[in-house]
Amino acid sequence: LVAGAKREPPARTTRIIHPARSAPADFAALAVPTYRASTILFDDLEALDNPYPGQYRYGIHGTPTARELELRLADIEGAHSVVLAPSGLAAISLTMLALLRPGDHLLLTASVYGPTRELAEGLLAELGVETTPYEPTIGAGIAPLIRDNTRLVWCESPGSITMEIQDVPAIAAAAHARSVPVAIDNSYGAGLLFDAFAAGADLSIQALSKYQGGHSDLLMGSVATRDQALGKKLRRTHYALGLSVSPDECSLVLRGLKTLDVRLRHVGRSALAIAEWLAGREEVTAVLHPALADCPGHNIWKRDWSGSAGLFSVIFGNWSRDRVVAFVEALELFGIGYSWGGAHSLVLAFRDLDRPTPELGPLLVRLNIGLEDPADLIADLEQAITQSSR
Ligand SMILES: Cc1ncc(COP(=O)(O)O)c(C=O)c1O
Repeated sequence: LVAGAKREPPARTTRIIHPARSAPADFAALAVPTYRASTILFDDLEALDNPYPGQYRYGIHGTPTARELELRLADIEGAHSVVLAPSGLAAISLTMLALLRPGDHLLLTASVYGPTRELAEGLLAELGVETTPYEPTIGAGIAPLIRDNTRLVWCESPGSITMEIQDVPAIAAAAHARSVPVAIDNSYGAGLLFDAFAAGADLSIQALSKYQGGHSDLLMGSVATRDQALGKKLRRTHYALGLSVSPDECSLVLRGLKTLDVRLRHVGRSALAIAEWLAGREEVTAVLHPALADCPGHNIWKRDWSGSAGLFSVIFGNWSRDRVVAFVEALELFGIGYSWGGAHSLVLAFRDLDRPTPELGPLLVRLNIGLEDPADLIADLEQAITQSSR
């Protein structure tokens, strides 16, 4: 290096890092560009010290790609603000950590997503938060369970695996009478099939990994609210935890949103046809699908929901566990794997499930209906029922 030497123009190696900027003002593409950023430059130190409200400051707090996704999700749910988290589970823990403090009490629906229950029983318990599980169909009966130190009522409707539809308006009315906010894991409805805010919920959590992403290739979650004070608590906790989402994945979710409604309608129709076919089979003792009468809370679904999605469960109450395993493993179009909401049909069965009863839990099979032709899926289920009897 030559001290004091000045090059005009800068070296190629410097120009690679400091290119001339080109802003494509008339490039009206339909897709939202993917803006990757950790550092975001300020014009001067004055701008760094006095950012205007909403100014981009650092990648962790948002990029134009993430902000666009937040805005579109807020629009779908009719929320005032949305925060993004790296997974659905992270959105759940963010909400809990934003609202609960040592000595607080949490009411948690008993058919909650397993890792949510583990969060309550593990980390939250260690932090001094006490949790009481309640029956998902409790409705207005939740009132006597609310204590002076209850700080959050958690709903999930339909419940994970056992699919109970909750009377969210009745639960919210009881909670609000005691000034307790209500959060709902609203992932099944994807913000389209169930209006969480009209039902009285204060926070709507989405596992965007499911229907919004829609292709089983990303993880993301969101928390939406209309309440400014709750929004502030969420942002503060989001900041403290350093929760960041990749703009690349935001761009995939933005793309998924464009087909969300048509995909949801398709899987909704297919799943209902398949559920009805299963309900007519003698091997099946119950089909837990919100649109069918076997499903606890079916009447509430008729009252509060505009449709059903692609996830439901079937109970083979007269089978052995071995036959359930043989059936699941004989399926060819249904992959064995976690999650749901993508294009592929999936199946799960659970050895130690204690709902709806410890006897029936291991005989329950959960199906995620994907975008395949429903006739092929029915043929696959039929051949697996036959195979499993051998
Ligand atoms: C109801 C429900 N909520 C939340 C989640 C968590 O989402 P993620 O997989 O993005 O963490 C899941 C995942 O299976 C789920 O089924």
